[in-house]
Amino acid sequence: MATLSETSPVTVPLLIAAKGREPIAMMTAYDAPSAALLDEAGLDVLLVGDSAEMTVYGRQNTLSATMDSMLRHAAAVSGAAKRALVVGDMPFLSYQTSASEAVANAGRFLSQAGCAAVKVEGGRRVLGAVEAILSADIPVMGHVGLTPQSYRKFGGFKVQGREHAAAREILEDAAALSEAGCFAIVLECVPDGLAAEITRTIPVPTIGIGAGALCDGQVLVFHDVMGLSRGVSPRFVRRYANLAPIIEEAARAFTRDVKSRSFPSQAESYSSGKAPALRRVR
Ligand code: KIV
Repeated sequence: MATLSETSPVTVPLLIAAKGREPIAMMTAYDAPSAALLDEAGLDVLLVGDSAEMTVYGRQNTLSATMDSMLRHAAAVSGAAKRALVVGDMPFLSYQTSASEAVANAGRFLSQAGCAAVKVEGGRRVLGAVEAILSADIPVMGHVGLTPQSYRKFGGFKVQGREHAAAREILEDAAALSEAGCFAIVLECVPDGLAAEITRTIPVPTIGIGAGALCDGQVLVFHDVMGLSRGVSPRFVRRYANLAPIIEEAARAFTRDVKSRSFPSQAESYSSGKAPALRRVR
């Protein structure tokens, strides 16, 4: 079978087959221009994360995400991605209330937003919803460990599974999701030894975020990677660019040029004598 990197487009069976053969690179994406760049750069999976609430909308947590806003972001990303598999993150209360609502909402990510799969947070406690979604032939990515939609229960964004009993629970949750038919499982903020054990135990890829080097793949949040987040980053973030000062400097320069009337120049203006344009021209 061809490797992921040789393949276009990335599909669910190809991702499953990548386990143990080729690490999976996943990043969050929320809009068309950045999704096109990430896709071109070779990301295997683009996750339209409910982290949009924090990164795009400046909220303190992800609980305010809605189906409508997630579908709009997901449609923008799916429309721009040519190769990467696009996964839509099911928002808080879109799958917990009933199995039929879970299936209907998951289906909208595929039928209305063009996603290939959905992601659901939680282990055995959401198994009913996961099984119902899977029975509609909608691929599901699981997510265990620190599940941000449960952050009120956890009392904050904290590493999970440090104690033996908690670690067993996370391992059993991951095993139950994989047995149910999830094609991959995100492991968020768990000790690296636990992530390695889960990765060895389950037959589908694990994708880690703050879960050490031995997962089958890694995911990070776009704004963290690109240096667009303000404040202190968690220790698992590696910043590959520092775009915040670049954007700020460009905005300062534009403001300076407007105030000093050095923008626009003659070359950036239209001369008289031509009929006024009826629509926007470049
Ligand atoms: O919403 C999100 O960005 C996520 C990742 C942290 C995995 O769920």
